[in-house]
Amino acid sequence: MPQTLRNDRFLRALRRESVDCTPVWLMRQAGRYLPEYRATRARAGSFLAMAKNPEIACEVTLQPLERFDLDAAILFSDILTIPDAMGLGLHFVDGEGPKFERPLRDAAAIAKLGVPDMETELGYVMDAVRVIRRELDGRVPLIGFSGSPWTLACYMVEGGGSKDFARIKAMAYNDPKALHALLSVNTDAVIAYLAAQRAAGAQALQVFDTWGGVLSPAMYREFSLPYLTRIARELERGEGAGRTPLIVFGKGNAAWLGDLAESGAEGVGVDWLIELGDAARRTGGKVALQGNLDPATLYGSPEAIRREVRRALDSYRDGNGGSREGHVFNLGHGMSPDMDPEHVRVLVDEVHAYSRR
Ligand code: CP3
Repeated sequence: MPQTLRNDRFLRALRRESVDCTPVWLMRQAGRYLPEYRATRARAGSFLAMAKNPEIACEVTLQPLERFDLDAAILFSDILTIPDAMGLGLHFVDGEGPKFERPLRDAAAIAKLGVPDMETELGYVMDAVRVIRRELDGRVPLIGFSGSPWTLACYMVEGGGSKDFARIKAMAYNDPKALHALLSVNTDAVIAYLAAQRAAGAQALQVFDTWGGVLSPAMYREFSLPYLTRIARELERGEGAGRTPLIVFGKGNAAWLGDLAESGAEGVGVDWLIELGDAARRTGGKVALQGNLDPATLYGSPEAIRREVRRALDSYRDGNGGSREGHVFNLGHGMSPDMDPEHVRVLVDEVHAYSRR
C-alpha cells in the first residue's frame, strides 16, 4: 500500500530542493547509549540476535525516533551481514568488536566466494526493512545501507578490526589481482543488497566507506573509488523525483571529495576533519552533503553543542553560495556508547531551530 511521507525533508535535501529547516539524523542513532536499547539487547541475548530478528530490529530502529525529532530512520543491522552470508562466520567478541572465523588469506579462498541470495541468506534484512516500513507508517523515510567493497574487504581479509591494515595492504601490494577479484564480487553483492533493500522499501541508501581514508590517494583511486563509482552508476534506483538517493559516506575522504561528487551518488557524507564550507566548495553543488560534527562534540556541554551546530550550519551555507539547501546534518562518524541521550536532544533541536527558513 503506498504511504504518504509526512516528513520528507531528508529526501528533499538530498535532491537539493528547498526545505523548512535542515534535516538531521545521526550515524549509530540506535545503540548502547540508549537504556532502552541495552534492555532490548539483554532480552535478545546479543547484537546479532537483535539484527537477525526483524521484529526486534524494528523495535530498536524506532527507539531513537520515539525520543528525538529525527528526520530519518536507519535500518538496524550491520555492514558485515554480507561477508557473514558469504560463509565467513561472523561473531562478536565483547570489547573486541567483530571477528570472522574464516578470514580470507589467499586468492584460492577469494575465488570460492559468490554473491549470496538476498531473499534467503539475507532474507532477515529484507524482512526487517518491510516490518520497519510498516511500523514507521510514513513518519520519516527509512535509510538502507551497506559497507563499501573496500571496507568490507578490510574486515574479510584482516578477520576483524585492524589498526594498521597490514594483511589487506600486503595483499594490495603483493597480489593486487586477488584483491580486485574480492572487490569485484563485493561490488556485485553490494549492488544486489542495496537493490533488494530498495525493493523491500528502503527510501534512501548509504554506503559506508569507513576505511577508505587509510589508503594513499593512488591506492584509493585503485581500490576504493572505482568500485564506489560502479555502485553509483549500476545500482538501478529510478529517475526524477522518484529516484532513491544514494549517499556515499567516507571517513578521511576530504582529499577526494571532488571525485566523489562525480561518482554518480546524490549525496556525500563527510567527517569532521574538513570544514563543511570547504567540502561544499570542493563538490561545487553537484551533490548534497551530509555531516559533519565531530561525534565527541556530544561530550561537550549543551551550550558547546549548540555553538558547534550553528558553526557547522553556517560553514555549509558560506561554502554553498549563501544557501542552506542540499545539507543533511549528521555527525562525521558514529555515536559512542557513553554519550548522554539528553545531549542528542540538544543537537537535534538546535539544528532545526537555527536552520529554520
Ligand atoms: O547507524 C545506525 O544506528 C544503524 C545501525 C548500524 C550498526 N552498524 C549497528 C551496530 C550501522 C549503519 C552499522 C555500520 C557498521 N558496522 C560500520 C560502518 C559505520 C562505521 O561505524 O564506521 C562498521 C565498520 C561496522 C562493523 C561493526 N559492527 C563494528 C566495528 C562493531 C563493533 C562496535 C562496538 O563499538 O563494539 C559493530 C557492532 C554494532 N553495529 C553495534 C551496533 C549498534 C554495537 C552492538 C552492540 O554491542 O550492541
